[in-house]
Amino acid sequence: MFASSLPVDEHMSTRRMRLTSGHQIPGVHGMGYGHAPFFASWRGAFKFLLRPRHYLLKGYQKYKHKSGYFKIATLREEYILVSDKAKISEVGDIKQLARPLFVQTHVLTLSTKLLAAPADVLSFLDISADEIQSKWTLGNTSPWHLGLISGKLTQNLGTLTPGLVKEINVALDKYIGSPRGDLLPAHGLFVLSMLNSVTDFSPIALHSVMHKVVAQAVSYAFVGHPLCRDEVYLGNVRAFTRAVHISAELIRPFPDSWKSYLIRLTTAWRRRKFAEEVMHGAVLARLRKIYKTKEAKPVDLLQWLAETAPSRERNVTTTVERIMGMNLAAMQGTSSILPGAVVQLALAPDLYTPTLRQEILTHRENGITTHKTVLNATKLDSFIREASRMNPTSMIGLMRLARKDFRFRDGTTIPKGTRMGVPTVAIHQDATFYPKPDFFDGFRFSKLLEEDPNDNSKYGAASTGLEYLTFGHGKHVCPGRFFATDLMKLILAVLIMRYDIKLPPTAKPHKRYFGMHEIPNSNLRVLVKATGNR
Ligand code: HEM
Repeated sequence: MFASSLPVDEHMSTRRMRLTSGHQIPGVHGMGYGHAPFFASWRGAFKFLLRPRHYLLKGYQKYKHKSGYFKIATLREEYILVSDKAKISEVGDIKQLARPLFVQTHVLTLSTKLLAAPADVLSFLDISADEIQSKWTLGNTSPWHLGLISGKLTQNLGTLTPGLVKEINVALDKYIGSPRGDLLPAHGLFVLSMLNSVTDFSPIALHSVMHKVVAQAVSYAFVGHPLCRDEVYLGNVRAFTRAVHISAELIRPFPDSWKSYLIRLTTAWRRRKFAEEVMHGAVLARLRKIYKTKEAKPVDLLQWLAETAPSRERNVTTTVERIMGMNLAAMQGTSSILPGAVVQLALAPDLYTPTLRQEILTHRENGITTHKTVLNATKLDSFIREASRMNPTSMIGLMRLARKDFRFRDGTTIPKGTRMGVPTVAIHQDATFYPKPDFFDGFRFSKLLEEDPNDNSKYGAASTGLEYLTFGHGKHVCPGRFFATDLMKLILAVLIMRYDIKLPPTAKPHKRYFGMHEIPNSNLRVLVKATGNR
């Protein structure tokens, strides 16, 4: 999800050593560890592997009012999970600037610097670098460009919106079918897309289609035309996330000194090199072009990278590495939350679609979905926040590695080398924060906003807090969350206007859980029928 990295240092080698037999830190109990004196963490690891969600929910419920900590084991390492709000604040900071829901993004400042535990004590970067072995899978990932995401990308959402809406429509025409039977350009010819016009309910592979639509829209914002419609480029972007995760697992067991060589045998390397080939011309042109004063510059990440990269990084290889790293960050969360949202539309077609459609129509400007439409559509925003609450992408959040011994105010000391986190999935299911937490209530947050209209910063899809951790919280809070939530709202708005959506009678939209992962039914098909509108 995140692409920055520091060298993976010696702390990583201590993973299971200190805590192997599931003992040690008073008041921190292992979930599923049992009472046998030996191999307790291994027992816990196998139990957790098969029922991760169960143990996270159980540990949270059991210990949130007692010690406030519990631990789980995976086959690779152990995590101390912090479940008491005050203690979570000690891990990550609590003061961060949330954007008021309906305020234009350019008022956003970047003063989100307060962290209770400094990075040389609890490190986010060490853990994210280790998760995806980013130094080798992503290449050059020093984090100077993060400011472009929280700054330029967020500030330009208004400018990007018309192009994003267009790209979403083009992608839906291509991957589902046109609602109007429009004439669409294809291979230099115009073809009548009536052949593919879904005039009756037709099945689509939900996850695959959403993944493709997200890839095209993200690529528009990151590299612009013509790459964002180039199927070869897009195919490589879509395959990259998986390639990185698989390659990281393959090289992890080996010493760091071998990894620079081993990575060349992996698909992450091949995909990155292929991206360099496909993008070479476009990137070089941007790096070389000097714009005249009045000449319009492209508005995309590639342009901002070309303009602001330090001179040693003004080359094709590094620019491509950065773009691919950001593609990874942008694609994985967005393309897992969005299908979850569409499933909810499909499960209850009469409950949500008519209301959301009406809201979009009300806030359209001159009949067009604009940035203001998604800023003002509070029910749509609520729907996305609820889908993010129910599908938080990662079951454990705010992961940190203790670079030094870390002492909580209650005296509990976490030894150097320990991994820490919070059980996001359990916090999102806590009935004190969310009444009927396992029930998807798409308008949960817009109803709260109606009751409490003065506090519009609390309930927005991109506003994080200790009870809502999909995008993390604190110093390392996701800088792409405004872009991600706007993008998901735009895609949903366009889908809702274009199609009626329902589930086939035999569909099973269930999820499974394995290890740290939520596994949705990626073969799920939903039925869509064109409304004839856009
Ligand atoms: C729904 C989509 C997304 C989700 C669920 C998501 C979630 C997250 C989470 C949980 C973190 C770690 C926060 C922490 O541990 O404190 C994170 C960090 C990050 N995200 Fe996202 N993200 C999404 C989209 C994006 C997009 C679109 C971008 C880029 C345009 C992006 C760029 C990043 C970066 C660069 C970091 C690392 C921040 C740092 O090093 O301080 N993310 N994201």
